[in-house]
Amino acid sequence: MQTENIQELTRKFVESYGPSGAEDQIRDVIRAEVESLVDEVRVDALGNLITHKTGDEGGQRLLLAAHMDEIGVMVTYVDEKGFARFTPIGGINPLTCIGGRVMFASGVVGVIGVEQKRDNADKIPQINQLYLDVGGASRDDCPVQVGDAGVFVRPFAAQGSRWIAKAMDDRIGCAVLVAALQEMADQDSPHDLYVVFSVQEEVGLRGARTSAYGIDPDVAIAVDVTGTGDTPESRHMAVKLGAGPAVKIQDAGMIAHPMVRNLLVQRAEAAEIPYQLEVLTGGSTDAAAMQLTRAGVPAGCLSIPCRYIHSPSEMVDRRDVENGVRLLVEVLRQALSVES
Ligand code: CO
Ligand code: ZN
Repeated sequence: MQTENIQELTRKFVESYGPSGAEDQIRDVIRAEVESLVDEVRVDALGNLITHKTGDEGGQRLLLAAHMDEIGVMVTYVDEKGFARFTPIGGINPLTCIGGRVMFASGVVGVIGVEQKRDNADKIPQINQLYLDVGGASRDDCPVQVGDAGVFVRPFAAQGSRWIAKAMDDRIGCAVLVAALQEMADQDSPHDLYVVFSVQEEVGLRGARTSAYGIDPDVAIAVDVTGTGDTPESRHMAVKLGAGPAVKIQDAGMIAHPMVRNLLVQRAEAAEIPYQLEVLTGGSTDAAAMQLTRAGVPAGCLSIPCRYIHSPSEMVDRRDVENGVRLLVEVLRQALSVES
């Protein structure tokens, strides 16, 4: 496995544009990387990129998913002077917005400002007290309009073993899946493998729901980020950067199926890949929607530990990313059975 390759994939993915509901640009970028690695690629009605790699006859249907959408802002109103108001796409925090920049599909950039004469000036501002300055002089002259969606602007940075960027959630999961497919290109796998790059996760796991229904998998695993407890005065959480990918036990939206959890743990231990156990008290992933598809699907999640999730500067550790790829490759090489 080549670090430079995964780093370049990650850089390319995080710097692409793709807020929930407008994933076409990032989808094209991912599609170009995976097309040669699988047997079939299609896009479903919601916009999910669904790839299929046929395995041995009789192999189980395994669904791996990472969401390609990212958080952002949507313009709700443009005033006479050309300043735009916005509503969040997914969870964004006013504290990490002010002074930042967003970029729209067209390439237009906006600065996020805050009302100076607001009532509660000594408190954290509300989203509706923020605005976008896109350089327009009037409503008619404004380069963005109601319904346009923007994403944070922030370049990728690599420093020591850390990688920092906007949209690590969940382009890092997309990069892990593509890197795993690359590793598997010349190896045998017993699985009937579906790798899905899902849409609209940040607004309610919507793409995962329809794609899992259509695929009807035997087992589903999401690859997404999870929070950490390793920053100053952080919440009590056992996960930290650099200690390995995390095997999810549960989060606010699901309890991982014991078979999937044990599968990930056993494959990690057998291959001597470092891993952590994750209990996340807030938030969830595509696995929650996949688990409740049809009559229910055994589902779990492989998480990449990430600091500052849903800020413009999300931070992961390269070693966790690489070990995440190694662990997925171990899963892909062998049948899904676990020792009890
Ligand atoms: Co998220
Ligand atoms: Zn995510």
